[in-house]
Amino acid sequence: MSKVNVAILGATGAVGKELLALLAERRFPLKELKLLASPRSAGNKIVFNNQQITVEAVSDRSFENIDLVLASAGGATSRTWAKKAVASGAVVIDNSSAFRMDDNVPLIVPEINPEAAAAHQGIIANPNCTTILMGVAIYPLHQVQPIKRVVVATYQSASGAGARAMEEAQTQARDILDGKPPQAEVLPYPIAFNLFPHNSPLNDDGYCEEEIKMVNETRKIFNAPELRVTATCVRVPILRAHSEAINLEFEQPFAVAKAREIIAAAPGVKLVEDWQSNYFPMPMDATGQDPVLVGRIRQDISHNCGLELWLCGDQIRKGAALNAIQIAELLLDKNLLTPPSSAVSV
Ligand code: A2P
Repeated sequence: MSKVNVAILGATGAVGKELLALLAERRFPLKELKLLASPRSAGNKIVFNNQQITVEAVSDRSFENIDLVLASAGGATSRTWAKKAVASGAVVIDNSSAFRMDDNVPLIVPEINPEAAAAHQGIIANPNCTTILMGVAIYPLHQVQPIKRVVVATYQSASGAGARAMEEAQTQARDILDGKPPQAEVLPYPIAFNLFPHNSPLNDDGYCEEEIKMVNETRKIFNAPELRVTATCVRVPILRAHSEAINLEFEQPFAVAKAREIIAAAPGVKLVEDWQSNYFPMPMDATGQDPVLVGRIRQDISHNCGLELWLCGDQIRKGAALNAIQIAELLLDKNLLTPPSSAVSV
């Protein structure tokens, strides 16, 4: 496999750090590695594979000779830099929501729709974390019998709001235990010993942006524009793994034993069920793990064509960095790491 010049945009963030760990762990064929962030971090040193790399502030010249950009620095930063990177000859795998619903941008979960990568025009979007975790768990069932409707409630960790939110959650916990009032600056309200509906902007129907991402992105990834999805997204006092309670409705009854068999054999997921001891997926067990843990698969007693399940997945890993690296590996494997000449038309 030929070696690749890679830039990480947002290298100092929670996802950026995990991207670095995964590049090393999975022995990604790197030629050069450039670490980019905001001017705040310029000059900082990060150790990668026993070598110190100096973080650079992203600039117009950052993408010269770069083959692949892994971007995880927020939507505004991606909107500023992604097309410039493509114009310089790089392919961008973008973890932000900036381009996800663009018709010219594939939105990929490698276990679900790897074939979509072939149509890329320079930018490939990494889906929203809750969408990825739900997608890998329910797509294997959808392939056997199309899902008609999904009702999901999420329990989302502080990591979804970045490294500063994780630090804030820990500081708040210490302050509360010390009898001091918790300060909230990154998230709108204290998250330690508390929870609140997801803090993304609300639309006129009363849904927040995160919930609408789950609806639209799942439809795009599954190539199922008619799929009915409704979501309630909640932030909970957990550091880095998300959980989801999912209700699925099918046309016909779906045998629980069959669903369990399918989940146990599916890529990217692990069946975790011990009914004797009431042991099922927990965020603590999912933290640092690649697979999405799935369990409590049971018949919906209110609907004979319904199934209930529960999952936990590492938001920073499969929910973000791991999925991005898997997309990069897919591009290498299929020889797709070349932006077409019409690359900047997105
Ligand atoms: P920096 O550390 O210099 O602020 P997280 O999601 O964990 O908060 O991380 C966000 C990442 O995006 C960080 O690496 C951060 O860099 C980077 N970032 C934020 N704003 C910009 C920007 N305007 N230009 C480049 N990188 C940015």
